[in-house]
This record gives sequence, structure tokens and C-alpha cells, in this order.
Amino acid sequence: MQNLTINAERLWDSLMETARIGGTAKGGICRLTLTDLDRQVRDWFRSACEAAGCEVTVDELGNMFARRPGKDPSLPPIAMGSHLDTQPTGGKFDGVLGVLAGLEVIRSLNDAGYETNAPIEVVNWTNEEGSRFAPAMLASGVFAGAFDRPFADSREDREGKRFGEELERIGYRGSEKCGERKIGAFFELHIEQGPILEDERKEVGVVTGVQGMRWYEVTVTGFESHAGTTPMHLRRDALVGAARMVEAINGVALAHAPLAVSTVGLMEVRPNSRNILPGEVFFSIDLRHPDDVVLAEMEGEVKAVIARIAGEMKLDAAVADIWNSPAVHFDPACVGAVRAAAEDFGYSHRDIVSGAGHDAAYISRVAPTAMVFVPCEKGISHNESEKIEPDQAAAGANVLLRAVLAYDKAMADRAA
Ligand code: GLV
Ligand code: MN
Ligand code: MN
Repeated sequence: MQNLTINAERLWDSLMETARIGGTAKGGICRLTLTDLDRQVRDWFRSACEAAGCEVTVDELGNMFARRPGKDPSLPPIAMGSHLDTQPTGGKFDGVLGVLAGLEVIRSLNDAGYETNAPIEVVNWTNEEGSRFAPAMLASGVFAGAFDRPFADSREDREGKRFGEELERIGYRGSEKCGERKIGAFFELHIEQGPILEDERKEVGVVTGVQGMRWYEVTVTGFESHAGTTPMHLRRDALVGAARMVEAINGVALAHAPLAVSTVGLMEVRPNSRNILPGEVFFSIDLRHPDDVVLAEMEGEVKAVIARIAGEMKLDAAVADIWNSPAVHFDPACVGAVRAAAEDFGYSHRDIVSGAGHDAAYISRVAPTAMVFVPCEKGISHNESEKIEPDQAAAGANVLLRAVLAYDKAMADRAA
């Protein structure tokens, strides 16, 4: 096990090959979940896993599990993975790196003829991003019991298309019940998506947990009227109200600096005509903090400022709570395996809490879990210019490989 490493060139080639599926002119990927492009990358992944000798199972939420057998079929598999869906202006590595590095680990084990004790699996979780169907991490959430299948199936995109119907349309509704499958441990490699590792010149992040995150949807209702004839003091302009709310929501995070963040990233104005006062505005809110107590305070403050501004401006404002993903602390043994693997390779590393959401956050509810981070250029992510170097991808995949093998050995030693 000591000398095993992944094949850096093959991993990079797979990343670049799949990046063409939904590739954008600016060098990113637009591969929204359950679109035809998602089907194409899933087909690619299934064939690649089968060519590597794996058996691929798809569950009822479209989660894909590719299994390489171990010596002891009675042991639950050690799983690796992440997601192949992207943001509308996504980069080439968010999610994809974790799935293809898992595939590369399996290919490398094949090359070396290495037999693990437990089966090894690589997983593609459906709809991690949540940008088409909110909330994020939807199918790993169902797997872990945070949501149920009817909830997932009923999620609608902004055009009114449903998750369940789109899953069937692309042919990825499997028969295995979601969550029925046992997982012995889960390891997810991901780019950091922030600037800390690069700033501190660390090659690897040993991820100890994920911060808490909550999503809301706000509908502000005013009154549509003529832009030329409605005096300023008689207006009920939903967009002016929403603008004040956006500023105030930003202020809530600033008041809880430096760890709090708040974002309004999606807004729709109705009827969206240049000479009608906006009668209705719909917008999303994303609040995050590593401490759930502070996050709950932020929620209270956000709801209070929205109500106050709506009252002052004679508007209605309805706030819907649509997601609450509490802060997560990963399993000490899995985190230890990641740290030891980074040390074995001599990679500089530090412990880090993830600011981004990941499928690992939900899977940690049902299996011992940890994550590996590698830096990305300037910390830029959720952006088509997201960039890492081939040796950074390889470092992450090597740590993934060795953490999985160390965990496999420890599990077998315990069972013996
Ligand atoms: C997932 O991509 C997130 O929003 O952190
Ligand atoms: Mn991701
Ligand atoms: Mn993402």
C-alpha cells in the first residue's frame, strides 16, 4: 500500500474529457442537474466505471454507485465521490474532481492488482448544486434521511419542471431504494472553493466539518402601476423594497463578522417592464455560519429587517424557510486517515472547516465521513474561470487513495 499512487495524467485527461460535456466559451461548464448534458456525463461515467470492472447501480433518486469488490463481501463498502452536476456558470472542478478522483483510485487499484478488504465504491450524487432544484445536496439528503423521496420528486425548477419527471426523462430513475445501501465510510475530495489554502501555501486541506447553512425564498408584493403617472409618495414599489432588504441582509452578515456570510443570488422582478412599477419581486437568501446558534440569530435578524422594511413601505413580504443544513463535525477516525495520508506524502496541510456545502455533510449522518480539500487559484469557484493545476488534482487524489486504503486496513484489523 505504501508505494501506491494514482495516475495523474489519466485523472487530468478524464477531467478535461468530461469538461467538454456542457463546456462553455469561457472555459467553464454549464451542466445543470437532470438536463440532457447531465445524462451525457452520467452515461460517460457509467461506461468508464464498467470499463474499470465495476458494477454500477442507480438508486431511485439517480445516485450512481460503482462498486469494485473487496476480499470480504460482507463488509460495507468504503465510498468516495461527489457530484457531476454544475452551476449554470460552473467551473471544471467543483464536484467533478471528487467523482473522477474516485474513479482514478479504482483504476489505480486495478493497475496495481491491489485487493482491498471491503468493497470500494465511487458515487455520483444527484443535484448537489441546488441551483436548478432547491435545496442543494438533495439526493444525498434523501440518502441520509434528511428529506424523503416525495419531497425530492416534487421540487420544481423556475420553469415549473419537476425533479421526479426530469429524472425519469433522462432515464436515471433506478430501482434501488435511496438510502437502503450500506456505506462503511465516505471520503469526498473537493476543491476548497475559497482562498485559505492558497494564501497559506498548503497543498491539502484536512476538512474537519462543514459550516451551517440556511436558505429562504422571499416574495415581496407591492402594486403595479404606471411609471409616468404614479407620484413618488403614492408608490408601492416591490423592487425598491427588495433593494432595501438586500442591503439590510448584507448588513446582518457584516454585523456577525468575520465568520458570517449572507447572499442574495437570485432575483425575479414582475412584470419586468421598464415603465411599470414592479408589483412583485421574488428573491433567494443564503445564510451561513459555522456556529448554529449564531446562524439562528442571523435568521431572526433577517426576518425582522424584512418585516420592518415591508411595513415601512406598505408592502407584503412572505418569507419561506426552504433549507436548514446544520453545522457538521466529521468523524475523527476518517479525518485522522486524511491527515495521516497527507503526512505520508509529505504534503503541507492544515485543518479547515468547509464554507461550501457538500454531499459529505449529509452522508456523515449515516457513515463515518471526512473530506480532502485542494486549493484552487485565488480561491475562485462557482465561476467559469475556476482553476487548479494537474499536480494539485493528483495530490488530492493521492490523499484520497491512501486515506481509503488506511481506513480499509484499520477496519479489517478491527474485524480480525
Ligand atoms: C454548494 O455548492 C454550496 O452552495 O455550497
Ligand atoms: Mn461541489
Ligand atoms: Mn458548487
